[in-house]
Amino acid sequence: MSLDAAAIDLDAVDLSDRDFWGRPPAERHAVFDALRRERPFAFYAEPEVPLIPAGPGYYAVTRHADVETISSQPALFCSGQGAVSIPDMPPELNEFYGSMISMDDPRHAKIRRIVAKTFTPRMLERLVESVQQIADEVAAEARRKAEAGDGTIDVVADFAAPIPLWVICDMMGIPAEDRQMVLEKSTIILSGGDPDLIADENEILTQFLEAGGMLSDLMNRLAAERAENPRDDLTTALVNSEVDGEKLTHQEIASFFILLCVAGNETTRTAISQGILALHEHPEQRARWAADPSLTPTAVEEIVRWVSPVTWMRRTATQDTDVNGRPVQAGDKLILFYGAANRDPEVFADPHVFDLGRAPNPHVGFGAHGPHFCLGAHLARRELGVAFRTLFDKLPDLEVCGEPERLRNSFVNGLKRLPARLTGVR
Ligand code: HEM
Repeated sequence: MSLDAAAIDLDAVDLSDRDFWGRPPAERHAVFDALRRERPFAFYAEPEVPLIPAGPGYYAVTRHADVETISSQPALFCSGQGAVSIPDMPPELNEFYGSMISMDDPRHAKIRRIVAKTFTPRMLERLVESVQQIADEVAAEARRKAEAGDGTIDVVADFAAPIPLWVICDMMGIPAEDRQMVLEKSTIILSGGDPDLIADENEILTQFLEAGGMLSDLMNRLAAERAENPRDDLTTALVNSEVDGEKLTHQEIASFFILLCVAGNETTRTAISQGILALHEHPEQRARWAADPSLTPTAVEEIVRWVSPVTWMRRTATQDTDVNGRPVQAGDKLILFYGAANRDPEVFADPHVFDLGRAPNPHVGFGAHGPHFCLGAHLARRELGVAFRTLFDKLPDLEVCGEPERLRNSFVNGLKRLPARLTGVR
């Protein structure tokens, strides 16, 4: 694919093709630049997903203003017909797809309220110290690994993945011995069928269901324990919660548990690993941030804008209406491409420049203003701040030493591996 936006054949583009997402970001952004400029509401065919019938097609929304307009009007553009998949999901997958992310108010708001308090900045203050302890321990373990081996580590497995995984597992009360399983199964759930993770296309659905089933079993086990001995964790809050005087259904609890496990670790892992890659590619920005801790708040926002870890969410029009003057019909599927909106020159000066001091920075990396705005945004910001300061303090000699392996998945802008050397070792 050409880097020259003018030469891109927008009819031939397939945004649901995993190989598109495995390409270097500059190539993807050339496509998004062309779409935003020439066809901000491009209509595309739905992806072929084994065993799930493809629907009529979807609109790719790439302008920042349109993402904002759609996200802020949930009555016109709902999540309840599917938010995390382009094809409509069959009911047997609802345990995994039917979480609050794919619900509409009033039910969505009531369910979100069950845990929302835990994620407020005031409550998270209590957590900062433990996030720092976790990050310190992860950094020390990474150094031990480099020292015991050839001086190299994998940034993804040895630094970016364990920090958010450990934090969310602690918040949920998931025991240490189950963490690895949570990591593996949530990776499968968000793999989007990357052939490295699931070799056989026809196995995608089975493996996906199996992964969800194992997380659901873990939830059942913890729920039984909490019934005997309630604890101050999110799992206890979930299993004891009531909405309108009624307990949540088993399916609601399971899908909520899975949502927290997955959303709480994959996204932040991507922001850390891709952020480290971005700093490697912009050494002057790395030196600037390493020397100036006061840059952390704007730096974290710029990393989320630059990486856009969650690449899209879906909304469906509930009636014939328009988006900033563009007509849409009831039932139209609108896919909000956050990474494209986050490089919109109408909103961001020099959008393809990585500037850790960028302010204001009204990115939509955590979603745009609306009822589904990321529940974990404050937590993620805290984790990212701690992770990068720990990198500068404890692993200042970390140098990326090879090519990143990109996840071939349209939903998360993830890395599978990123080799790095600790140059201070030996
Ligand atoms: C929703 C991004 C970290 C939990 C979302 C959405 C995005 C997003 C784009 C959808 C917004 C919408 O539909 O309007 C991110 C990014 C993260 C991150 C980029 C890290 C850098 C986290 C963490 C948690 C979390 C650490 C902790 C559990 C959730 C939940 C939702 C959500 C539960 C669904 C909210 C709802 O439907 O009301 N996130 N997220 N996220 N996120 Fe995050």
